[in-house]
Amino acid sequence: MNIRTIDWKNDKVRIIDQRSLPQKLVYLDIDKPSDLRRAIRSMQVRGAPALGAAAALGVYLGVKGYMGVGWQGFSRRLKSAAKYIASSRPTARNLFWGVERVVLAAEKNKNKPIAVIKKIILDEAKKIMREDALSCRKIGSYGSSLIKEGSRVLTVCNAGILATIDYGTALGVIYSACSHGKKVKVFSCETRPLLQGSRLSCWELSRRGVDVAMIADNTASSLMAGGKVDMVIAGADRIAANGDTANKIGTLNLAILSRYHKIPFYIAAPESTFDLSIKSGEQIKIEMRDPREVTGILFKKTTAPEGARAINPAFDVTPHRLISAIITDKGIIRGPYLRNIKKILSGRR
Ligand code: MRU
Repeated sequence: MNIRTIDWKNDKVRIIDQRSLPQKLVYLDIDKPSDLRRAIRSMQVRGAPALGAAAALGVYLGVKGYMGVGWQGFSRRLKSAAKYIASSRPTARNLFWGVERVVLAAEKNKNKPIAVIKKIILDEAKKIMREDALSCRKIGSYGSSLIKEGSRVLTVCNAGILATIDYGTALGVIYSACSHGKKVKVFSCETRPLLQGSRLSCWELSRRGVDVAMIADNTASSLMAGGKVDMVIAGADRIAANGDTANKIGTLNLAILSRYHKIPFYIAAPESTFDLSIKSGEQIKIEMRDPREVTGILFKKTTAPEGARAINPAFDVTPHRLISAIITDKGIIRGPYLRNIKKILSGRR
């Protein structure tokens, strides 16, 4: 199955509309920054690395039609396009990283003609996509060394093809192990409220022929207690310098359960998810989403009494001491994280 979550095609951003899954595989072609921002906010495109690429392409959409010739005017337009896209969702580091990459590429070339700078921005966004495809395969290959024949892996949300360009981080580890001939069984937490685990992870895992069983989120503990889970692998939206990791709400529950049941708990993420400018997870801004995502099912059916109040944080932060290792595109990082994250990301072993 070769599917691509996000691409640049016919002068437009092409995304898979993830809100239509698993019923229909629908592609959307987007050529306005406002439509792209809406697609990010409404989670038609989602998952940290996919957001990095979407944001970079979104900045390009914002400057593509600029008709002026001078850097000053272009720079103002670039900054406002960057700010606009960066305001779409607050938690995933990759989104800001994607924006910063294209802005920096433009600034480094500010003496060139505007048409050339625009092309540089688009090329940088395409490069981000190529790099992500490669990074995920590296994460997969490092991570598959942790998976034994017959391993039973529990995961949450969707950190797969649909959260990246075309392979996945946590699910990339599973795809890589399977490609080496290992048999892996996956338990996918459904991931209330937006059901990325059932709608998206089960969809892509089963399309790739991986043995997957969906579970209600509250089933994880009893499966672990019954000795049916060998490890947990989750993705990440932002990792602080000390290893504290923000990921989909419910990830922290799994980390605490894993510690209690003595099961390894792994995070899989590319370098672009690390935010070494923040010391700890306390500094990570957690997105609060519409409470109706909780009081209903995918906005279609209300499941709570009229007027019921709800709170809907989209992410939680798992403290580094609950994380057995972080599987990255640069290698597997174990504690002490403050020292080893810097060491491994900088290539010093
Ligand atoms: O709200 P979402 O669906 O964008 O949340 C996504 C996650 O939490 C993923 O686990 C994370 O972005 C890692 S994706 C490789």
